[in-house]
Amino acid sequence: MCNKRKSFIAKIVPKAGGVLGLVIVLPVRTLQLSMLPPYNSLLIQSLRLRRHMLIPSPITAAAMVEAKGLGRNYTGTINALLIGVFMLASTISHSRNALLEFECIVMGLLQFLCSPLSSSIPSKCSSLPLAPFLDIRCGLSEGPFYEEASHTLRFIDIVKKHVWWVDLREGPSSAKKIEYDISFGVTANLASSTDSFLFGGKHGIGIAKRDSSEYKYIKRFWHEAEISKNYETIMRANDGAIDRQGRFWVGAMNDPAYTNGKFDPVGILFRLDTDGTLHRVLENVTIPNGISFSLDDKTMYWTDTPTGNIYAFDYDVSTGNISNQRVFWHTEVGGPDGHAMDVEGNLWVALWGGWKVVRVSPEGKVTAEIEVPTRCPTAVAFVGEDVYITSEEDPEADKYPESAKWHGGVFKCHVGVKGRKLYDAKIASI
Ligand SMILES: *[C@@H]1O[C@H](CO)[C@@H](O)[C@H](O)[C@H]1NC(C)=O
Ligand SMILES: *[C@@H]1O[C@H](CO)[C@@H](O)[C@H](O)[C@H]1NC(C)=O
Ligand SMILES: *[C@@H]1O[C@H](CO)[C@@H](O)[C@H](O)[C@H]1NC(C)=O
Repeated sequence: MCNKRKSFIAKIVPKAGGVLGLVIVLPVRTLQLSMLPPYNSLLIQSLRLRRHMLIPSPITAAAMVEAKGLGRNYTGTINALLIGVFMLASTISHSRNALLEFECIVMGLLQFLCSPLSSSIPSKCSSLPLAPFLDIRCGLSEGPFYEEASHTLRFIDIVKKHVWWVDLREGPSSAKKIEYDISFGVTANLASSTDSFLFGGKHGIGIAKRDSSEYKYIKRFWHEAEISKNYETIMRANDGAIDRQGRFWVGAMNDPAYTNGKFDPVGILFRLDTDGTLHRVLENVTIPNGISFSLDDKTMYWTDTPTGNIYAFDYDVSTGNISNQRVFWHTEVGGPDGHAMDVEGNLWVALWGGWKVVRVSPEGKVTAEIEVPTRCPTAVAFVGEDVYITSEEDPEADKYPESAKWHGGVFKCHVGVKGRKLYDAKIASI
């Protein structure tokens, strides 16, 4: 009698679980999902929820990981659905995980319905630990730049005064560094030369040889009065970019190595025009940082990190004039650092101190994110449908041992979308 009752319960309870799933979990979860930000980030958001709310079974987790990898194709969704259906069938009769597996199907289904509408979502990186592509312990790796002609990634280490080169056909083992006696804050391709590159460096703008430590300045930043205030020591170049006409935009700021880590609002955003004249476009800024141009080149996006703002300006490509400054996007999570634009007009922004890179839509909304396994990612560059992310040595390594594990490394993540075209510098007399 007693055994009979037990087996009756064993039969009925999982079934009740399935029904409960249909009647309660489906509507509640659907409601939750429908209240989340745009469907691009839906799966990522729901994964985060899931991590907090539920302990997924290994199979569910596998299905979720598959579903996350789908980008523009449905392989992941179909896998998730198949695994989900299979699991539902088996769990209804066998296990207490029916609800979880059922939820997996619902989520797979929702994603399936949404994906024809949605653009690509960042793939597996955002929840799996992202191991560094290069575990090289830079002091401050910055300014990643993809040189298409040679399929090479270059980036700088501002603190150690290195320029790194990686042949992406050969992979990480080809990484080599060249040491200079000044720091570079940013580099750019020159239209007129393939054996040299343009840089924004410690005291000004110059050109450097690819294969040796040779460089020369073509324009110094500072006037006599500023040099007498020690500007050639306490300042350095930071991030920058080339515009469609080939002008070079570069910021200069306090060099924390010489100011006890302090940053005063004495920075300047410079613009080197194609005729070789240097202009001071913005003054009294603190940490002038990432610069990107919209797909139509009518808007310039520029960051002053301590404000937490990325600003937008109307951009006149014929004169290089910027006007109508407004806040495009603001964050309280870390400081917005370098950014790169994709072909769909989204900005991918490194959040220094925020453990992530976020995708910000042209409307200024966060629509996706990549979790980076170190706290201080600094900049982003596209190579095909991947992004490469540089990072800084964590200044609070004791407080964040997890961050210190891979700090200063370069990370790679498949995001399923390409970067917009970047331009070469065209400066007369170089
Ligand atoms: C579709 O996505 C899956 C999972 O990410 C991947 O393995 C597969 O190669 C992709 N298929 C195509 C045609 O891109
Ligand atoms: C920058 O600050 C200095 C000193 O406070 C001031 O004299 C100058 O007018 C400011 N420049 C701009 C463009 O605001
Ligand atoms: C830049 O544009 C603004 C607004 O249209 C205008 O007032 C200003 O004179 C322009 N400056 C230059 C240098 O062209």
